[in-house]
Amino acid sequence: MKLLKSVQNKIEWRIAPNTPPPLSAAVVHVWRMWLAQPADAITALRQTLSADERERMARLRRPAARERFAITRGFLRATLAYHLQISPAEIRFDYLPQGKPVLAHPATGVQFNLSHSREMILCAVTHTRAVGIDGEFFRTIREQEKFAARFFSENERNWLASVPDDEKPRVFFEIWTRKEAYLKACGDGVTRHLRGIDVRPAPADPSAIGQIADRPGEATRWRVVSFIPAPDAVAALAIAGDALPELHFWQWDDVSSPDARKKIQR
Ligand SMILES: CC(C)(COP(=O)(O)OP(=O)(O)OC[C@H]1O[C@@H](n2cnc3c(N)ncnc32)[C@H](O)[C@@H]1OP(=O)(O)O)[C@@H](O)C(=O)NCCC(=O)NCCS
Repeated sequence: MKLLKSVQNKIEWRIAPNTPPPLSAAVVHVWRMWLAQPADAITALRQTLSADERERMARLRRPAARERFAITRGFLRATLAYHLQISPAEIRFDYLPQGKPVLAHPATGVQFNLSHSREMILCAVTHTRAVGIDGEFFRTIREQEKFAARFFSENERNWLASVPDDEKPRVFFEIWTRKEAYLKACGDGVTRHLRGIDVRPAPADPSAIGQIADRPGEATRWRVVSFIPAPDAVAALAIAGDALPELHFWQWDDVSSPDARKKIQR
């Protein structure tokens, strides 16, 4: 399959240094973690959850769903705690009306968003700019054309129709993740008119958004960057503001190492 020019595909996932890199509005730290973790690491992550998170976890019926929630939320806490240099259990979340979690420590200026798809968890962390992230593994969508007719703009549908069949899954999910990353950055979920949001990357500027029909004039105030987080997956990051941020990619492979454990348990 030919790689699209609009997608950043040469990514070096690095292990985070003991001292966190400084946060700034010019950089987005993209963290990746795999769901498969040693049992003792999962226990350590679970122990960092707050009372309301434990209640939410307990309401999940399937043990696998409870474990997924503990790992995902524990990873989010550990990542934010690392950047803020506080203990994961000290992190407090607030929730926007459509459910977007934000930090209840507004003075820090830290902004984040999280996405999970199959075994992969992605988390974006930056400073003072609203951010959204979405990652998806390619899969078969039944009635893909009907889906596109319902949720994709005319430009997006034309783009999808113009590529050969073997490129369609990538283009389909590139559109999907760009749109969802933008919606997640706004905190809106799917409450908006999705066909009016045109996220097709322009050849001259792949990080631009074409049109946001329900918020005229706003398209220029967002940047969207697509990247390949794993084979057979695509992800997008949307960020408020017209400056293109640098993306730094970090892998939480070291979550079970003594150093990382100290970060989680501190
Ligand atoms: C949450 C939502 C915005 C994304 O859901 P999703 O794709 O199933 O899930 P993701 O893994 O990407 O993101 C989930 C995480 O986003 C965060 N989140 C929750 N609500 C959010 C919101 N309104 N805005 C931004 N982030 C949100 C949470 O951290 C959540 O993780 P958690 O469930 O462990 O707490 C969902 O409400 C939604 O609207 N989904 C749209 C699905 C769709 O039809 N997309 C078509 C696009 S073309």
